[in-house]
Amino acid sequence: MRKQIAAANWKMNLTINKAEALLNDILTPQIKLNANQLAVFAVPFPYLQTADKKLNGIENFYVAAQNCYSKKSGAYTGEVSAEMLQSINVKYVVLGHSERREYFDESNQMLAEKLNVALEYNLTPIFCCGEPLSIRDAQTQNEFVAKQLEESLFHFSKDDLQKIVIAYEPIWAIGTGKTATSAQAQEMHAHLRKVLHDEFGKDVADSISILYGGSVKASNANEIFSQPDVDGGLVGGASLIAEEFITIIKSLK
Ligand code: PGA
Repeated sequence: MRKQIAAANWKMNLTINKAEALLNDILTPQIKLNANQLAVFAVPFPYLQTADKKLNGIENFYVAAQNCYSKKSGAYTGEVSAEMLQSINVKYVVLGHSERREYFDESNQMLAEKLNVALEYNLTPIFCCGEPLSIRDAQTQNEFVAKQLEESLFHFSKDDLQKIVIAYEPIWAIGTGKTATSAQAQEMHAHLRKVLHDEFGKDVADSISILYGGSVKASNANEIFSQPDVDGGLVGGASLIAEEFITIIKSLK
């Protein structure tokens, strides 16, 4: 059975005090995950160790980095390597978020390299894909997203591919309050699974968690997560509000 995952993407928000307070508010005894469910917190780099300490010992709760660099080490001022993340016990890393693709020019090819180093250092990548509004309006989103997968993921072996989590995030739904309908999410998730099926076979396609992202909130999480090919969500804005994110975690299948 595929893992069901509620992943918080805090982006560039919160001070350390506010970050700790938010985690304290979320980590209440009412939150209990079953063995098949995970909660992941993609926090800013400076808070990774603090957050990891808070989550330490709480089953199925993990921190994630929001990015890492494509090179292993060296003269890359300002960058953070996969090995550094591994060395401080980070288990997950978000790669290819649309904001990184747009503001930092991350290409499908660069993301293929980042995914390689992430796997080399035993990080589980949460690989983001998704189309902009112009592509959705032209109704070419299926081809667009398939190409993102092809150029960043198709070089992997079946074994390695199964270590990756995919997040489908239509760019027109991120931070806009405009969510894809649950039917639109299901349609794309089924398409992504078919793309994986055609390249890697049924077992691989059936085993990969595909999260939906884009204006997920307490009021719509249940309906979106209940779709058969949706395995949870990558959540920005609503992950910064404790009650919202608690409800989102509780909405996991
Ligand atoms: P949002 O962000 O939930 O605020 O739309 C999602 C994301 O960017 O991962």
